[in-house]
Amino acid sequence: MLDLLIKNVNLANGEKGRDIAVKDGEISQIAAAIQAPAKKVIEGNGQLASAPFVDSHFHMDSALSLGQPRLNQSGTLLEGIALWGELKPSLTVEVIKQRALEMCKWSIARGTLAIRSHVDISDDRLLAVEALLEVREEMKDYLDLQLVAFPQDGFLRYPKSRENLLRALDKGVDIVGGIPHFERTMEDGASSIAALCEIAAQRGLKVDMHCDESDDPMSRHVETLAAQTIKHGLQGRVTGSHLTSMHSMDNYYVSKLLPLMREAQLHVVANPLINITLQGRSDTYPKRRGMTRVPEIMNAGINLAFGHDCVMDPWYSFGTHDMLDVSYMGLHVAQMTGIEQIQQCYQAVTDNGAQVLQLENYGLKEGNNADIVILEASSAIEAVQLRPERLFVIRRGKVIASCAPVQRNLHLSAMDSDQQPVSFSHGLFE
Ligand code: FE2
Repeated sequence: MLDLLIKNVNLANGEKGRDIAVKDGEISQIAAAIQAPAKKVIEGNGQLASAPFVDSHFHMDSALSLGQPRLNQSGTLLEGIALWGELKPSLTVEVIKQRALEMCKWSIARGTLAIRSHVDISDDRLLAVEALLEVREEMKDYLDLQLVAFPQDGFLRYPKSRENLLRALDKGVDIVGGIPHFERTMEDGASSIAALCEIAAQRGLKVDMHCDESDDPMSRHVETLAAQTIKHGLQGRVTGSHLTSMHSMDNYYVSKLLPLMREAQLHVVANPLINITLQGRSDTYPKRRGMTRVPEIMNAGINLAFGHDCVMDPWYSFGTHDMLDVSYMGLHVAQMTGIEQIQQCYQAVTDNGAQVLQLENYGLKEGNNADIVILEASSAIEAVQLRPERLFVIRRGKVIASCAPVQRNLHLSAMDSDQQPVSFSHGLFE
């Protein structure tokens, strides 16, 4: 007896009319017309069944703090950092935890079941670390939360960062973070990368740094990050987040940089919602878009994912933590509107994110975890186009969120009937 049988769904890889059988929290079979008794049956009706969304770059400690203690009047990165500094003294473990738990519910409802969140360790009290470690534990049956020890005020620039970072790791924070472009000098930035990679190598940890989040084409810390990754044997375990300065780097330099990044097996995370709003602020016209070279990095064989970064916090007053919004913005900013490119932008919030987080047993494949999202769309491309409802969110074979299909009724008196349903689905790319 199966625990769950999902009938007649399309898969993100283009396969159509598949049934998915679930037993003991795992996908036991994917095939056409599976005949087996099941405790629960979901009729897919040709909708998309996808692996869950993955947010590979987020800040859960600041999410949903919008307006505390005041709104960001200029909307800039610098006022955002100042605002976060104003908010910090009033934070408590309970307040951070309450907001983070609410944030997790928003994420789960939209089918995101894995999040890598940076956690600010520049506050000597490590309140956010305490709060998010508790949230990671309390939510573990519903989503995978990875935490990065993030020295927001600089690893070398803020004198207690090293001590705080080591304390955070000792408490159970998973990953070593950094922010080399925020150190006082380029040399300090490079020194911080070397020190942080050494810590990661000694402790057998992964690295994920905010890196070159700047419009300055000479901000080249990603080169040092790649070199230190190779030096310490950390290949495949290091992520460069943002890398926005690459949009303005010299093309010849980038032609040398990409193979080095590939050699180091760096992962890259771009954050289109935030990059398009925070970068290029000092430009008049022409005004730069602010996101890294997404298609070029992908075409170089480097794993690239999209992150949400912020939701309603000092830096960004928007967002519902919907990774399809991120994918949608990403393809606009990167001009990835080709058919295969839309598919790539869907992978940037699913499979590629899972590679960044190095999730085990992820993906709709026999033997993997039965973590499945059924969307009100017929394909991955249509999901990006429509950003539709998540009808069922399934974790280890159990439905943990659901909603009814949207029925929009038009009331057009000039036409035949008063109530006329309208559907935005078109199936053009099936
Ligand atoms: Fe960030």
